[in-house]
Amino acid sequence: MEEVTEGAVTIAVDEVRDGASDGAGDGVFYNPTQELNRDVTVAVLRAYRSREPRVASYLDAMTASGVRGARAAAAGYDVTCADTDPDAAALARETLARNGLDGTVVERDARAALYESGPFDVVDLDPFGSPVPFADAALSRARNLVCVTATDTAPLCGAHFDAGVRRYDTVPRNLDDHPEMGLRVLLSALVRTAARHDVAAQPLLSHVSRHYVRTYLELDRGASAANDARDRLGHRHQCQDCLERTHERGSTARPPDDCPACGSRRVVTAGPLWLGPVRDAGFAADVRAAVDDEMGTAGEARSLLDAVVAELDEPTHYDQHRLCEQWGRPASAMDDFLAALRAAGHGASRTHYGGTRFKTTATVAEARAATADI
Ligand SMILES: C[S@@+](CC[C@H](N)C(=O)[O-])C[C@H]1O[C@@H](n2cnc3c(N)ncnc32)[C@H](O)[C@@H]1O
Ligand SMILES: [Zn+2]
Repeated sequence: MEEVTEGAVTIAVDEVRDGASDGAGDGVFYNPTQELNRDVTVAVLRAYRSREPRVASYLDAMTASGVRGARAAAAGYDVTCADTDPDAAALARETLARNGLDGTVVERDARAALYESGPFDVVDLDPFGSPVPFADAALSRARNLVCVTATDTAPLCGAHFDAGVRRYDTVPRNLDDHPEMGLRVLLSALVRTAARHDVAAQPLLSHVSRHYVRTYLELDRGASAANDARDRLGHRHQCQDCLERTHERGSTARPPDDCPACGSRRVVTAGPLWLGPVRDAGFAADVRAAVDDEMGTAGEARSLLDAVVAELDEPTHYDQHRLCEQWGRPASAMDDFLAALRAAGHGASRTHYGGTRFKTTATVAEARAATADI
């Protein structure tokens, strides 16, 4: 047995296992790699209660050691933990008791817990791999907020194309913005799933960290709200030669015959993707303020959230190194590169997707011209 303290909670686990495991056939273990995910979750739960003071119930739908549910209970939520694995359910009970926290633990499939014990104000899906099998139940049985982790990044970003098409019922493309492609594919599937239940799902916060995508969706009931959410879906077209890209909203893709910038016929289309904002900047700032020094990843969480807050709302981003390679010139310091874009009148920001990545309102040709002299 090993004792681990995370935030306000201490757990005792047989196994601490680092890394991105798919979990198949594993016993219950504690994964310290996901501490950032859980720290941000606690900050979201705090910030969300200031936004919606009436939220109370929280379902940790795949609880494993119970650490996430226990941390939500310590944050004042009325917690239910579910897991199909009897050892996990027993450990989650032990975790709550060890910390003197109230909560209910059920040895149930997450979907059964949602239909039998729900609805819940907040539902947290943290499966091994894709959350899609649980999306209908969560999006129809949550009242306010659905928190979702997806670790199947290869299907999401189009690196495993057939699995991505099959699972997410969209066309993912493995392009130079692949972390964001993965996020927008996930959001597209979740928004379309919610809309089938006359529910609008709106991302309040999203991030792609390490080997997972995480998003927090606020729900609003009603056909017209669901239509409005669906209106933010659309397609992206990208030239594989000059990297120019365009996007258009709507259910029907109308790809250009050839690239409007360079005339190449090698244009690929992805979608339907979520093209709207992936976070509410004000809420993300509130989450940033709710991170505290007791959190093991406080520094990392704050810098992640700073980057998320500052990001432009463009539906794609660029990798500066990839562009500079394309243009046959060396990469520059990111601050100089962004300053040159801004000086030429374009919007420009860093992104949380990686240090060489940036967002801009400029086209590729405009970005090339604006940064030619640095
Ligand atoms: C990635 S772990 C959860 C980690 C945990 N949420 C945390 O933050 O430490 C996934 C868990 O889902 C459980 N699980 C698998 N299928 C499930 C299902 N259909 N319903 C509920 N739990 C399930 C597994 O037993 C495993 O404990
Ligand atoms: Zn082109």
